[in-house]
Amino acid sequence: MNILITAGPTREPLDPVRFLSNRSSGRMGYALAAAAAERGHDVTLISGPVALPPPKDVQVVRVVTAADMLAAVKLQLKKCGALIMAAAVADWRPVHVGKRKLKKGRQQRMTLELKPTPDILTSIGRFKGQRIFVGFAAETHNLRNEAKRKLREKHLDLIVANDVTAPGAGFEVETNRVTIFDAHSEEQLPLLTKREVAERILDRLEAGRKT
Ligand code: C5P
Repeated sequence: MNILITAGPTREPLDPVRFLSNRSSGRMGYALAAAAAERGHDVTLISGPVALPPPKDVQVVRVVTAADMLAAVKLQLKKCGALIMAAAVADWRPVHVGKRKLKKGRQQRMTLELKPTPDILTSIGRFKGQRIFVGFAAETHNLRNEAKRKLREKHLDLIVANDVTAPGAGFEVETNRVTIFDAHSEEQLPLLTKREVAERILDRLEAGRKT
């Protein structure tokens, strides 16, 4: 199968030297890409800025902002049979992007005006066709309800949800403890390495393939 995977954070510039971003390391998306390529799938990885080596036998497309990532996903979508959105896309971007480095000045407060970034899954939903869409949800509370809402609203077949406050789960660690939801069921997995989580997600994806 042709599988498109996104990974890592996005960076939303404030000026030429500063940006808004998040703590995503890219490890989950890179583990998925490596595991899928080893299973013989054709893998394209759209990656935000991370400090990881490119996985073997994977075509890597590098992007910086959420808008870049949306454009890259749109370009690659047609040829893929499955999309796995593991990227931690920044939710907000500055309204004004300074052409020059913003100066500190003497003021005691500084207010940043932000606007939402495009939601990639929501905006490509109408081009989904027979493709399988897999998303992630990193939550600090209300995990099940939030995961089920995102499954519906983001046109997903599977959503991989984790409580980022649980030990060994979430950002910047090698392990993850996730629950995989589809429209009818939930599968709670034990604490696993991100590579093992990747294998379990691919098992589900291959079992549910539509083409
Ligand atoms: O709404 P939330 O950010 O929690 O949703 C997470 C899922 O949506 C992830 O699969 C993520 O890659 C995707 N997403 C997206 N576009 C955004 C933000 C998140 O496609 N702007």
